Amino acid sequence: TSSDDSVESEQIGVPCKKLPKVIIIGVKKCGTRALLEFLRIHPEVKATGPEPHFFDRYYDHGLEWYRDLMPETNDEQTTIEKTPRYFVTKEVPKRVFNMSRDVKLVLIVRDPVTRAISDYTQVASKRASMKPFEQMALSNNHTGLVDTSWPVIKIGIYAKHLEEWLRYFPLEQFHFVNGENIVKNPSEEMFKLQDFLGLRRYINDSHFYMNDTRGFPCIQKTGSKYPHCLVGTKGRKHPYVDPNVIKRLQDFYRPFNKKFYQMTNIDFGWP
Ligand code: A3P
Repeated sequence: TSSDDSVESEQIGVPCKKLPKVIIIGVKKCGTRALLEFLRIHPEVKATGPEPHFFDRYYDHGLEWYRDLMPETNDEQTTIEKTPRYFVTKEVPKRVFNMSRDVKLVLIVRDPVTRAISDYTQVASKRASMKPFEQMALSNNHTGLVDTSWPVIKIGIYAKHLEEWLRYFPLEQFHFVNGENIVKNPSEEMFKLQDFLGLRRYINDSHFYMNDTRGFPCIQKTGSKYPHCLVGTKGRKHPYVDPNVIKRLQDFYRPFNKKFYQMTNIDFGWP
């Protein structure tokens, strides 16, 4: 009978789908795909490939729908998903809390100015005619006021979004990955993350090699002739941006960055 089946699937060692114990909640265009792909090298990590968007988009589908998206895991494996929109969607922290108050939350962050240009590059690649970045970023070219209503700008105010999450989860439940450093030294960032997740340090230097053409680290698949770089849409060429506008944005973000450093106890050293 079906009730016999459910008892059986709960037996130790029988793989089954479980709700995630770890969620990569953001930040969009900071290296979330690289982070997830790197983490999946670990034999004790199982993750969904596509972004589930459960807590922001499909919440009304219910937890069982969500669980069904998850890969099967045994008792040694940790279920992980990533959906960068979670970080900036107001309703999400409470919803995640209602699923599990001890879920671990992982954020990868990079200089919000570079993030904004990266985000713009992605949006512009999908839209034929888009105003130059400079015009979009400043609501008024003359006064140089930053257009904070533009999502590309808003997402980079990390302190504001993190505040919403800290209403539900203590700082100890978060881990912050340095998006600049994961490009320069992937194994260093992965050591810190594995430690935080209570995983043995399986992922190390031998899993990465620098692809000089791409300018990014790629995954060295042991025993395979074909190493694995992320798809071409990761690591796009950014447009030239007027240095005055970059400076204006750096000035805009500086106080928010400072607050973010205080909240996380990490100085990311952005300009
Ligand atoms: P750019 O395309 O602007 O360079 P996300 O996966 O969150 O969308 O982030 C995309 C960004 O990941 C890329 O932004 C790129 O800078 C960064 N990234 C970090 N490590 C990478 C890697 N190993 N390969 C490709 N892109 C990487």
